[in-house]
Amino acid sequence: MKFDCIIIGSGLAAIWSAKFLNEAGFSTLMVTKNQVWDCNSFYAQGGVTIANDEKDMPLHIEDTLKAGSFYNKKEAVEILSKSSLKLRDELAKYGFRFEPNVTKEGAHSVARVYHKGGDATGREIHKFLFNKDKSFFLDEALVFDILVDNDVAYGISVLHKNKKYNIYANNVLIASGGIGALYKYDTNARTIAGEMQGLAIEKGIKLKDMEMTQFHPTVFIEMKFSQKLLLTEALRGEGAYVVDENGKRFLFNYDKRGELASRDIVSRAIFLHQQEGHKVYLDVSMFDEEFFQKRFPTIYYKLKDYDINVPYELIPISPAFHYIMGGIEVDLNSKVTGFKNLYAVGEVSNTGVHGANRLASNSLLECFIFGKRAAKEIIKQNFKTENKKFEINSEELFKNDDKKYKNLLREQMWKNVGIIRTKEGLNEAIEFIENSMDKVGRMAKLRFLTAKEIVKSALERKESLGAHYRIN
Ligand code: SIN
Repeated sequence: MKFDCIIIGSGLAAIWSAKFLNEAGFSTLMVTKNQVWDCNSFYAQGGVTIANDEKDMPLHIEDTLKAGSFYNKKEAVEILSKSSLKLRDELAKYGFRFEPNVTKEGAHSVARVYHKGGDATGREIHKFLFNKDKSFFLDEALVFDILVDNDVAYGISVLHKNKKYNIYANNVLIASGGIGALYKYDTNARTIAGEMQGLAIEKGIKLKDMEMTQFHPTVFIEMKFSQKLLLTEALRGEGAYVVDENGKRFLFNYDKRGELASRDIVSRAIFLHQQEGHKVYLDVSMFDEEFFQKRFPTIYYKLKDYDINVPYELIPISPAFHYIMGGIEVDLNSKVTGFKNLYAVGEVSNTGVHGANRLASNSLLECFIFGKRAAKEIIKQNFKTENKKFEINSEELFKNDDKKYKNLLREQMWKNVGIIRTKEGLNEAIEFIENSMDKVGRMAKLRFLTAKEIVKSALERKESLGAHYRIN
């Protein structure tokens, strides 16, 4: 069977693209590594940014550029903001309604972030859209190759139920998300490990801005699972404080916006304060318990499980890896540079909208806007691949020591490719990666390739910019 489009991933970018493809009569196969909800969209707490009106658009653009250190692709940001104006109505027509009140998050000049289910926006949107999805679906399927020849993608190789096989298509759309599992502390779904970025490197597909990795400032990391609990920006947006063990709101020493500075600044400030020996907490005691429970139910119940009596008790926090701005280089229709029928959407892509640091709650928006643009482009081009058969890559997918090396990589990335970077640290990371790469199976090797690209780009960019901060 050959599909019109294979979609790698099952998050918002994947589902929203599939919607338009299916409406145009294109068949889609959605392939996901684990379960459908094992994606970052599902866990998104902060909401979807939507410019309030035509008048707010220039301000949303300005906030996005400012947060991104003006390194963003302006044309892409303008498309993002302008297209956002119609999104709420489009979703409402499809049957999805946000809660009516908008909220403010870090580095937004005004309130313009929409939510649903309090802090469960991603889950609510994902559940709603997935219920309407008409794709064929393959879960628990590991994509270990993309079949490309020159400037055409022909399909993918998967491992499914212990069998390896190729699946062919007229178009391939990569919507596999970011790289969370490369870092010791991260907020991402457990499946998100940067393997598709590694495949891109292997195939000579261009990646851009891979040094631009974002650390979320307020994460509860004292959990037994690798995925740590995000404490949404909306908490600070709605009044929570960041304090140290003396109750001091020290963020003002770093930026006059305090808790509402962009997340690169807040993360760095917390990290530096911790390095000076301080403990750092989120103080949510200004919220009424009933309000807190209703507005932030995910956080409320998760923290209660860990015996933290919110909103009365301080929540210990740390920054943790959250999002990568870099990714597969694409044009304004999310088509991969140099390819006729290969697309990338969402976090795995680099549209240029986020620049050197993403503005809070612009990521789900990007999935919606560029997911639709990719689908429309696929429909317009109506590209057909010739029937071509590919050999299956015979490399061993897993080796005995994979887990050990994956964990060592996470330590290295956190220590040397984290919030503050030095030449010595980056060189140590590269050396570790190069020495470990041939000790692991193919799937882990793809992670290592991605990690190497991040470190290489971080070494090449000698100056600090946005989320990339070098002290030498
Ligand atoms: C958050 O809720 O703080 C995260 C939102 C985002 O990553 O944009």
